[in-house]
Amino acid sequence: MLVEDDLGLQKQMRWALSPYVVDVAGSRVEALEKIGNSTFRVVILDLGLPPDENGASEGLKTLDEILNAAPRIKVIVASGNVERANAVKAVANGAFDFIAKPIDSEILKLVISRALRMSELEEENTQLRELSAGGNDGLVYASPKMTQIARMLDRVGPMDVSVLLTGETGTGKDVMARALHQVSRRKAQPFIAINCASIPENLLESELFGHERGAFTGAVKRTHGKFEMADQGTLFLDEIGDMPMPLQAKLLRFLQERRLERVGGRESITVDVRLITATNQKLEKLIAEGKFREDLYYRINDVLIDLPALRERETDSVLLAQYFLNKFNKALSKHVAGFTDDALGAISRHSWPGNVRELESRVKRAVIMAESKRITAQDLDLEAAVGAFRDLNMRKEVENLEKRLVAEALACTDGNISKAAKLLGISRPHLYSLIGQD
Ligand SMILES: Nc1ncnc2c1ncn2[C@@H]1O[C@H](COP(=O)(O)OP(=O)(O)OP(=O)(O)O)[C@@H](O)[C@H]1O
Ligand SMILES: [Mg+2]
Repeated sequence: MLVEDDLGLQKQMRWALSPYVVDVAGSRVEALEKIGNSTFRVVILDLGLPPDENGASEGLKTLDEILNAAPRIKVIVASGNVERANAVKAVANGAFDFIAKPIDSEILKLVISRALRMSELEEENTQLRELSAGGNDGLVYASPKMTQIARMLDRVGPMDVSVLLTGETGTGKDVMARALHQVSRRKAQPFIAINCASIPENLLESELFGHERGAFTGAVKRTHGKFEMADQGTLFLDEIGDMPMPLQAKLLRFLQERRLERVGGRESITVDVRLITATNQKLEKLIAEGKFREDLYYRINDVLIDLPALRERETDSVLLAQYFLNKFNKALSKHVAGFTDDALGAISRHSWPGNVRELESRVKRAVIMAESKRITAQDLDLEAAVGAFRDLNMRKEVENLEKRLVAEALACTDGNISKAAKLLGISRPHLYSLIGQD
């Protein structure tokens, strides 16, 4: 699209730019209207638009609004007798490039083809990222702690060992359990999950082990329990810390013999399941209090994966915020462009007691409610920067500043480390060391 108020130039350019299909807008308002209804890849924008033909204020404003409405569009600004400084300013504000008036159409075509190429590459890149992020294992991370956990997932997943997942609420224990199943040789077999805390104690046994007809009042037919349903696959026992003592004994017996009896039954049934358990309680404490069997603890705990709290994952919060923004834009057919600096700062400072789940729900609500193109700290219901610099410890302040800049750079580059390092003007190893600092 060409945004140009001069009718003669409009005509001339349309002709000069063939075979590109060119649409024309004569003003900021018309340009934005057209962008809302179409999918332009490149916009050529005259900076000297009325009412400021001799300045660049209307042009720069148009640029800003175009990029807000459609951040992917490559805008090439054309500046005539306006100062060169305005063209530079436009590029600093996100324009792809600038070209001097009178326009040499051959040069312009070159710049356009470069812009198109860039736009294609970016699109490919997002598609690839969408395939990998949230694709295979559904885990989004960049922090060293989570990278280590992902490595553990790859190593431990394929082995038939029992895994105990611990971590605060919302740290991703469910996601991890599913991911462990997905990378195992059992992935084509069932994954059965049951939450031990949500089922009344007297029903849990039959829920897990099944029952025979007539085993108790209301047992009108033989029913398979979760263990049998998960045969050949994975059984995920969530909130294992809430399992009553008698059932713990029965579970232990199963883990030793790999056989079970349905409630009210005599037949001993062989079941082949891989057991994954999870809890946000401290099992050692429950053991000390006599509420959890120590021998069972060792059985379910061939491998322990302790998921770190979100506040311990450095820049992951900003990365996840971006990921959830994309997710909910898509799911809710919204077009929120991103986060304000204030929001990014607030996200990296917040302590996230509800961890990833809290972040997900705050971003979701903000996407639903957002009135502007960018989500603010207020949309997230988080405190905007308060009392910065009240603490005069310089090292600490510098560290905080570094953290914020790193988080923002990662958000701007969709988590691309090389691009983020470039943006920050530092080396990749330096960036890695900043991400890793505690
Ligand atoms: N690393 C991650 N990448 C992407 N999404 C994540 C990640 N970790 C967690 N989530 C998402 O966050 C939400 C909470 O995760 P999950 O239910 O796995 O937490 P949990 O540890 O099981 O919590 P609880 O102890 O309350 O059961 C889910 O919607 C999940 O998809
Ligand atoms: Mg859970």
